[in-house]
Amino acid sequence: MGYPVGRTLITANDIQARVLDLAEAISHDYAGRDLLLICVLKGAAIFWADLCRALRVPCQSDFVAMESYGDATTPLEEPRFTKAIDVALADRDILIVEDIIDTGHTSVGLRALLGAQSPRSLALCALLDKAERRQVNAPIEYCGFIIPNAFVVGYGLDFAQRYRHLPYIAVLEDQAGH
Ligand code: IMP
Repeated sequence: MGYPVGRTLITANDIQARVLDLAEAISHDYAGRDLLLICVLKGAAIFWADLCRALRVPCQSDFVAMESYGDATTPLEEPRFTKAIDVALADRDILIVEDIIDTGHTSVGLRALLGAQSPRSLALCALLDKAERRQVNAPIEYCGFIIPNAFVVGYGLDFAQRYRHLPYIAVLEDQAGH
């Protein structure tokens, strides 16, 4: 059944305000460029949906899926790519849209995969950064919130496919400090 949802870490209002900030910065930086958003399924889907609708510049979107956790809360060291991109990346300005950067392995692996296709530029936008858990150097050009070391759910993030629908970010009870 999973764990009960614990305290709210980031309210829906705070998320929406920060998404607008990020969209403003991205719109400024990508004006006149050829922006392609790469949404990392499934966790970033809700973030991507709000972010892309707040942009003031034209963009295209595509989707990748990577398996990092299965049904557990401990990340795999070697993320598995389960859905590749469908469009050519050569000479495109790519912005990866991620839900959360934890150990950093997923985003480093994804950057290598996408970077091999010679995009003009490659940057990352993540809603959440669990900075103290980092195991590899994983740059985040656009970061929503730095959060403490706790397993969080909501606004697209799941535990065993649950809680993605919550409009806020909450800590899973008994999972703080995993
Ligand atoms: P990383 O490879 O350790 O950086 O993990 C990145 C992926 O792990 C994210 O895209 C999420 O899908 C998942 N993840 C990491 N921490 C959490 C969490 O606290 N809640 C839900 N998913 C998480």
